Amino acid sequence: MSKDRIYNQSMAKIADFSFDAQVADVFTDMIERSVPGYRAILTMIETLTEHYAQPGSNLYDLGCSLGGATLAMANGMNAENCTIYAVDNSSAMVERCRKIMQRSVHTCAGVHIDSADIREVEIADASVVVLNFTLQFIPQSDRFQLLEKICAGMRPGGVLILSEKVIFKDDHLDELLAGIHHDFKRAHGYSDLEISQKRSALENVLIPETIPTHRERLLSAGFSSVDVWFQCFNFMSMLAVK
Ligand SMILES: C[S@@+](CC[C@H](N)C(=O)[O-])C[C@H]1O[C@@H](n2cnc3c(N)ncnc32)[C@H](O)[C@@H]1O
Repeated sequence: MSKDRIYNQSMAKIADFSFDAQVADVFTDMIERSVPGYRAILTMIETLTEHYAQPGSNLYDLGCSLGGATLAMANGMNAENCTIYAVDNSSAMVERCRKIMQRSVHTCAGVHIDSADIREVEIADASVVVLNFTLQFIPQSDRFQLLEKICAGMRPGGVLILSEKVIFKDDHLDELLAGIHHDFKRAHGYSDLEISQKRSALENVLIPETIPTHRERLLSAGFSSVDVWFQCFNFMSMLAVK
């Protein structure tokens, strides 16, 4: 696994963050050292897939990057005749994801990897849909429509697993948890310069929202039961049942 050193030299101008080849090359190291609980969430996506995948249905990993959640779904699959669709609009991610899946060909026999914008992808006959730290990169004005489309394409009893970085309405709590997250990154080897330059790069690209905003929007989009099943500092994952 290549080490993420993208922001370790002082930059005169910091460009907006993008999922390009440079990021794709170090992505696994970057997300593991930046997102508290990332590995635990993948393990639980495997468990939730075991529980919720319905025979003959489709499963979707939307914003799959290198396929961490896709592999977790494939490993947890014990329902028959299912197809997993892994979708990302970064060609650098999709190219590397395909190579990773080819190495796990036995686990990933029913996996299709598509290069597409998840806002344009048809969701049909779905039992499990995963948005693992992807919705935060979709323009806020498009989020409701995307969630409504996902819910409409799901079978009754199907689930959406939505993981996101979040903010808190209470300023004290928000500052406290953001500070603890920075300590987490320092403890995983990022310098203050790296943390601050990456924060600037993400400022206009990753737009976090509050947990109540996510919950209310999921309910309005048609899900019948919504709650947080995982939280570590300002990162959480929700389960929304149709
Ligand atoms: C933080 S990464 C997701 C991590 C991944 N789900 C995992 O569990 O390892 C966000 C991904 O969403 C993708 N993405 C962002 N906007 C997208 C869009 N509109 N359509 C498809 N993919 C998108 C990015 O290219 C990136 O690979």
